[in-house]
Order: sequence, then structure tokens, then C-alpha cells
Amino acid sequence: MNYSITVLGLGFVGMTTALTFAEKNHQVYGYDIDTKRMNLIRQGLLPFSEPGLDQALIRHLGQGFNIVEDAESAVRKSDFVFLCVGTPAGENGEADLSYIYDAVQMFSSVLHDGKHRVIVVKSTIPPSTTSERIIPYMKENGLYPGDMFSVANNPEFLREGKCWEDAMNADRIVCGVEDHKADIMLRSLYSKFDAPFFAVSLNTGEYIKYLSNTLLATMISYSNEMSKIAHAVGGIQIKEAFEILHLDRRWESGDMASYVYPGCGYGGYCLPKDTMAMYATGSAKGYEPKILKEVIEVNNSMPQFMAERIMHIANPSDKIGILGLSFKPGSDDVRDSSSAKIIEILLNEGYGNLLAYDPIANAAFSEKYSFKEIKYCRNLSSIGEESDIFVLVTAWEEFKKIKVLYSEKPIIDCRYFL
Ligand SMILES: NC(=O)c1ccc[n+]([C@@H]2O[C@H](COP(=O)([O-])OP(=O)(O)OC[C@H]3O[C@@H](n4cnc5c(N)ncnc54)[C@H](O)[C@@H]3O)[C@@H](O)[C@H]2O)c1
Repeated sequence: MNYSITVLGLGFVGMTTALTFAEKNHQVYGYDIDTKRMNLIRQGLLPFSEPGLDQALIRHLGQGFNIVEDAESAVRKSDFVFLCVGTPAGENGEADLSYIYDAVQMFSSVLHDGKHRVIVVKSTIPPSTTSERIIPYMKENGLYPGDMFSVANNPEFLREGKCWEDAMNADRIVCGVEDHKADIMLRSLYSKFDAPFFAVSLNTGEYIKYLSNTLLATMISYSNEMSKIAHAVGGIQIKEAFEILHLDRRWESGDMASYVYPGCGYGGYCLPKDTMAMYATGSAKGYEPKILKEVIEVNNSMPQFMAERIMHIANPSDKIGILGLSFKPGSDDVRDSSSAKIIEILLNEGYGNLLAYDPIANAAFSEKYSFKEIKYCRNLSSIGEESDIFVLVTAWEEFKKIKVLYSEKPIIDCRYFL
């Protein structure tokens, strides 16, 4: 069965969702409130770097995937509406649902036309959000799920840098869905994917996503705490120790081991905000999560810890070359990037001679962060020549050359990579 699908929010998750459904021969309409983003996509250009997704856009644009001028008319034609808008951290770490509410407002008038639709929240939302926040919000606005429409959630597990690969070869499809009609439709929609399909309660669907992300965050903070102990003890080969840990056969299947490895803290869009949101949800519901509290605290301490390592070796007048600006290699996403946090500390401490280079994220970084003092370098050799000392913050493969080419210059390897 081929469906008509509206995707609201064309970021990493929205573009991936839209194009994987187009690849499976569904008719997909995409809409984003960011007109700059819409204009790029209209021209066949992805607003960020994602291998595979860029080619999928060229294949499907104007065919199975169309950009629309208004959400309402797209929803009118659709069987499914996928909400893929952001859910950033609110003031106290809770998930800010305002983009979801705004998106619902955009198509609310259409839901009375007699056609049954499934509204699917793909954005990451803490457990109980669909049942205790989104559905009540809809009801307050005169929208009662039932014959007119169903509300479900469908967490996304893709990794940035591997969006297309992960979505096309999903290892599990989870839908939080509590009515029969929506269950049948979602099963039918996902029947074209070769992945186990789980229909669970609304709260369970949301919870499963946080099980995943908070475990990853915990493994990273555990590794970082262990690395801090190793630094305090001294004489410990941290890189080698973790590599030997990974030789345990139980780590062999898949790359989970990469999360049990120290660095300068987890960043990016998801792990920081999702760990905080789960902490906030547990606390609000009467159980303060103790482990998550420490996971967040260890993570927050990492930029300062790394800055102190740097300042221990470098003088304020040294030219410090920051290698890597994205939150992880293979991506140009600079949201919550460790580099920005370390740079800020160094600047505040009077280390004003900073150079920076990232293979793909220079532009995104300089656009997001207004560090006037940084000189951006166009390639590895220019930062290599100009710097007195290097700080490796993102583990891009090409940075391995630094150790060989500039062996006389000190390197602070915040990722235990070299
Ligand atoms: N990035 C990831 O790796 C990842 C993985 C799994 C889940 N998620 C979750 O998916 C959601 C989206 O993440 P993302 O990384 O794609 O975010 P993003 O910031 O890249 O994209 C969100 C998009 O939604 C748009 N938007 C906001 N309000 C809108 C509205 N009313 N109508 C239409 N568009 C609107 C924004 O302009 C933006 O382009 C978040 O909840 C995130 O936690 C992200």
C-alpha cells in the first residue's frame, strides 16, 4: 500500500524520514518554517552534510518528495503527518514542546474534514508526553483523537553522519500506539522495511528512546570519569587501556564500544538534552534519577578538565590550533560542540591566539558561534604550520597525520585518538 505523508520539520530526522518513505514509493510532502532551509532543499541541496541523504534528495525531489508552501494543504492530502520538529532543552532541562504545539496548530483546521489520519510524533519526547501533554493540548484546542484522527509516537534511532544508512536499514521500529486503526496503518506503512516492528503503549514508545540515549550518555560519562581517575593516578596509558577493554568478545558485534571510550564529553543535539529531559521527567514524577544526575555532572565538568590540561602545557601567548569543531567526526553538526565550550574557557582565561580547523564544519561553527578571536584555517597544513600547539577535539581520521607531520609540536589529544 502506498500512502500520502506530510513531514513537518526538515532537519536531520525530517529529511531522513521524508526521503526513506519516498524511497519506499510513498508520496511525501515536506514543510519547514525555516524558509532558508526550504529554499536550499527546493534546489536539491541538503542544509547539512549527510552521506547518502544528499543523493536520495536528488533522486526523489519533484517525484516522490515535494516541498510544499503550506502545511495545511499537504496535510489535507495525507494519511500520515509526521512531526519531526525540534524538542530542545527548556529552562530546567525539561523538553520544550513549543515547536510541537506550533506544528499542531498549523494543521489543526484540517483534522475536521472527515478523513482519518495518523499524527505521528517522531521528535524525541519524554515518557508520558503524548498522553499527558500532546493529546490534552489537542483536546484544549477542540481536537479529540478518535474517528477523525489518531495520535502515535515513533522514536527515531538514527545516528548523525549515518542518517540514510541507519534509516534504510533500521534495526527496530518502535511505535507508541494505543488504537487499533493507527496500529494497522503504521504496521502497513512500515511493512516495506525489513526490521522488527513493535507496537507498544504510548509511554513505552517514548521511554524506549530515552533508554537508548541515556545509556549511551552514561557509558560516555563512565569512561570520562575513569579517564579522570587515570589522570589523577598518573602513568596510565588511557588509550591503550580502553582499546584492550574493547577486545572483550562481548563488544565485538557493532560499535557500542565507541561509547565506552573517554573524550571531552558527549555533545550534539540529542544526548545532552535527552539526558537532562529524562532527569527532569523522573524528578517531576517523584523519583530523582541519581545516576543520570552524575552522568550530567561528569559531562558538564569535561570542558573545564580539558581546558586545564591545555593550560597546563600552553602559555596564553601560544598559537593554539583547535582540531575539530563538529560534535563528532562524519558530521558538520556543531550543536553543543565540545570545541565551543573549550574555546570559551580558553578565551576567558586569556588564551586569545586561537586557530581552528574542521574538515567540513568551519562554516557551520562560525555561523553558530560568534568567537571573533578565532582564525579559521582552510586545511590541515595551514593550521599545522601556524600553530605552536594542537588540541584535538574531534576525532577526524585525517588528524592522525598531525602527529607524523608536526611531531615536534605538542598535542593535547582530548579524544585519546592518536
Ligand atoms: N539529530 C538526531 O540525530 C536525532 C536522532 C533521533 C531523534 N532526534 C529527534 O528528532 C527531533 C528533530 O531533530 P533534528 O536533529 O532533525 O532537528 P533539526 O533542528 O535539525 O530540525 C528541526 C526542524 O524543525 C523545523 N520546525 C520547527 N517548527 C516547525 C513547524 N512548526 N513546522 C515545520 N517545521 C518546523 C525547524 O525549522 C528545523 O528545521 C528532535 O526531537 C530530536 O531530539 C534527533
